[in-house]
Amino acid sequence: MKYMTTAEIREKYLKFFEEKGCKRMPSSSLIPDDPSLLLTSAGMVQFKPYFLHVKELDPAYVGTTTVQKCVRTNDIDIIGTTGRHLSFFEMLGNFSFGKYFKKEMCAWALEFSTQVLELPAERLYFTVFEDDDETIEIWKNLGVPEDHISKLGEDDNFWRAGPTGPCGPCSEIYFDQGPEVGCGKPDCKPGCDCDRFLEYWNCVFTQFDGQEDGTLAPLKTKNIDTGMGLERIAAIMQGVTNNYDTDVLRGLVAVGERLFGKTYKTDDATDLSLRIVADHSRSVTFMIADGILPSNEGRGYVLRRLLRRAVMHGHKLGIEGPFLSHYIEQIVNEMGHVYPEIVENRELVERVVASEEERFGATLRQGQAFLDEALSKLEGDTLSGKEAFTLHDTYGFPVEVTEEICAERGIKVDTAEFEACMEE
Ligand code: SER
Repeated sequence: MKYMTTAEIREKYLKFFEEKGCKRMPSSSLIPDDPSLLLTSAGMVQFKPYFLHVKELDPAYVGTTTVQKCVRTNDIDIIGTTGRHLSFFEMLGNFSFGKYFKKEMCAWALEFSTQVLELPAERLYFTVFEDDDETIEIWKNLGVPEDHISKLGEDDNFWRAGPTGPCGPCSEIYFDQGPEVGCGKPDCKPGCDCDRFLEYWNCVFTQFDGQEDGTLAPLKTKNIDTGMGLERIAAIMQGVTNNYDTDVLRGLVAVGERLFGKTYKTDDATDLSLRIVADHSRSVTFMIADGILPSNEGRGYVLRRLLRRAVMHGHKLGIEGPFLSHYIEQIVNEMGHVYPEIVENRELVERVVASEEERFGATLRQGQAFLDEALSKLEGDTLSGKEAFTLHDTYGFPVEVTEEICAERGIKVDTAEFEACMEE
C-alpha cells in the first residue's frame, strides 16, 4: 500500500466518481436546509430533495459526488478516548437518484478500494443487511470470497438520517487492521466494538421514505447514498490505527504540543486533552464560518459546549489566556483550499472564538474552585441541581460539562432539579 495524504485521497475519490459520470458538487453548509436536523451530519443531507424527486439532477450526469463537512455530537463524551470518533469529520460520497444502483455501486467501491487505493483484497470484509441476499451475490460475483461477507441487523446495516425521510438497507466495507489492534476474542468480526475491523465505507441503498408512523413507503426510484469517512481511510492509507495520527489531525495535535510545551504520547490525560482540542477546534471553526454563533439553545448551544469544552482542556494543559487562534490558523492553512468559507470568514471566526474564550476564561477558574468545593463537601454521589445551576448561570459551565467533570469522579448531577431551576 502506498502512503497517501488526506488531500490526495480526497482528490482521487472525487475525480474517480467524476470519471464515472457524477457531478462534483460543493459541500453544503453545516446549517441544513431541513428543519428536522440541527446540523449537517452526512453527505446525503443536501440531496434529500433529489431522492424525493422534488429536485432533479441535470440529466447529463449519472449522480453526484462530494466531500461534505459534517458535525456529529451524539457521542461527544467518547471523543478523544477512541481512535475513530470525531465531532467534525469529512465524508466522501457519491449519490444516485435512480440512474445507478447496487451492481454499479459495489463494483465501483471495490475498484476504488483495490485499484486506486490499492488496498489488499484479503484485508477487506463486507456486511449486508439481514435480508439482502441480492447484495451478497453481487459481492460474490465481483470475486469477494464468501467468508468475507456477513449479515448484520438493523442497528448496523439499515441507515437513516433521522426518524423520517429517505433511508434504506446498507452494505459496509471494513478494513482488517490486524489482530493486534483488536479485542483478541475468537469471535471478533466486523461489527465488533473493538478497533480491529474498521468500517470505512457505507453504501446505502436508499429505497424508502420513512413515514411519521414508522412505515417505509417505497421511493419513486432506487437510489444510492455512500459515505466514506475521510479521516478513517486516511488512517488506513497512512498505516496508523488512530485518526489523530493522520497528517491533518496530527498537525493539530502538534499545535497543542508547541503551545502547551507537551509531548504527545507521554501521558494519557495530556493526550486526551490534546486530542479533544484538536477535534473541537475544527468543529468550532467550521460552525462559526457557516454562521452559527454561541448561544444558549439549538445549534448555538452545541457550538458553545464544544468551544467551552476546548477551553477547559486548554486550561487543563496549563494555558490561561486565549489560544484557539493558533488552531484556527492551522485549520485555515490546511483546509482553506477545499472550504473557501473558512478563509473568507476567518476574521469572524477569530473574533467570535476570542470573545467566547475571554468571557468563559475569566470565570473558569472561579467556577472550578466552586465545583471543587461543592464536591469536597458532597455527601452521597449526586451534585444538586441548584449547584449545577449556579455553575451554569454564574460561571457559564454548560450542564453537560459539569456532568462530565463529575462523572470523572464517579458523581452524578441532579439534572431534574437543574431543569426545574432553569424553568424558574
Ligand atoms: N448516509 C450514510 C452515512 O452517513 C452514507 O453516506 O453513513
